[in-house]
Amino acid sequence: MKNAKKCAKIDKSMKIAKKDKQKGVFNLQKINVELTKNPKQKPTDESALGFGKIFTDHMFLMNYDEGQGWHDPRIVPYAPISIEPSAMVFHYGQADFEGMKAYRGENGKLLLFRPEKNMQRLNLSNERLCIPKIDEDFAVEAIKQLVNIEQDWVPHSEGTSLYIRPFIFAVDPCVGVHPAKHLIFCIICSPVGAYYPEGLNPVKIYVEQNYVRAVTGGLGFTKAAANYAASLKAQADSEKLGYTQVLWLDGVERKYVEEVGTMNVFFVFGDEVVTPALQGSILGGITRLSTIELLRSWGYKVTERRLAIDEVAQAAKNGKLTEAFGTGTAAVISPIGILKYGDDVFTINNNEIGSLSQKLYDELTAIQWGKAEDKLGWSVEV
Ligand SMILES: Cc1ncc(COP(=O)(O)O)c(C=O)c1O
Repeated sequence: MKNAKKCAKIDKSMKIAKKDKQKGVFNLQKINVELTKNPKQKPTDESALGFGKIFTDHMFLMNYDEGQGWHDPRIVPYAPISIEPSAMVFHYGQADFEGMKAYRGENGKLLLFRPEKNMQRLNLSNERLCIPKIDEDFAVEAIKQLVNIEQDWVPHSEGTSLYIRPFIFAVDPCVGVHPAKHLIFCIICSPVGAYYPEGLNPVKIYVEQNYVRAVTGGLGFTKAAANYAASLKAQADSEKLGYTQVLWLDGVERKYVEEVGTMNVFFVFGDEVVTPALQGSILGGITRLSTIELLRSWGYKVTERRLAIDEVAQAAKNGKLTEAFGTGTAAVISPIGILKYGDDVFTINNNEIGSLSQKLYDELTAIQWGKAEDKLGWSVEV
């Protein structure tokens, strides 16, 4: 609180229409902005940024209270949040989040990549987790305003960006399982380094046959915090064996390919590109969607279907599998060079970057950093 008092209160309030007033969910009119009086030292060595370790000067906060809806949107100095030890999120994990980036474009403009898709997905997660929905347009505006305030934190070097982490968590001080009546929506930002400082690099993947990430009917299609807790053990074990990430199989038959680590996965069989269909246990990635749309616009045949790991193994054996790659906000495209499935270890495309992986990476990153014409209208200026 002391810190807050020190801060200059600047009324950069933003007028927002009372959109869903009839539903009584939103009661938002303006975002109050309180700028820090103690700005942090910005990192000088952008090659040492890493991922998610440094946080900017401000954060967005908004509260939900039953009867009041989402209210009191504000941008305030980045600081610890005080909640009760009994807060529901600690006990029952009612929490979800999003991950997106702001890019410094060629002409100095700050760009977001399909931010409305992230907010739509956040509401999909909210719905499943009994978290009251947010106003998607309002949330995008809040992100824009926060990034605008933090514009000097968006790094300049090739491949760097400002990672944006919106998240919602339940704060009812009550150890009893029920949908929360009190929640906080927070957005924090972190300058992040280039994922591939030395260019695209194929990864080693371990096909996980013991643990599962999600099942249809569960939370797999959401960005629930719980999904990531469930994935840690398999990830840690695969790292011990020298692999970068695991390839998740379906939770019922352990037969069908689902995702790779925290990415969606694609396999190239000659002139057909196959990715697992979204049937409830897979997160619908925004990079996945953009990859499918780009490939189709280039004339490729993209099939979304159930894909058995044995089919992948067979194709790897007989040379039909020409490329495999993961897609996600962090890495954009991550080529798979080595795939370990049981006793077999397959090398895909000589453990080299495939031409399609490279083409997709180049095109997606060119759009994200404003270097290519945004024909599909994906970039949103801050
Ligand atoms: C489990 C999981 N799958 C897929 C993705 C890729 O989604 P996106 O392309 O929206 O980053 C992510 C990362 O956000 C993820 O956490």
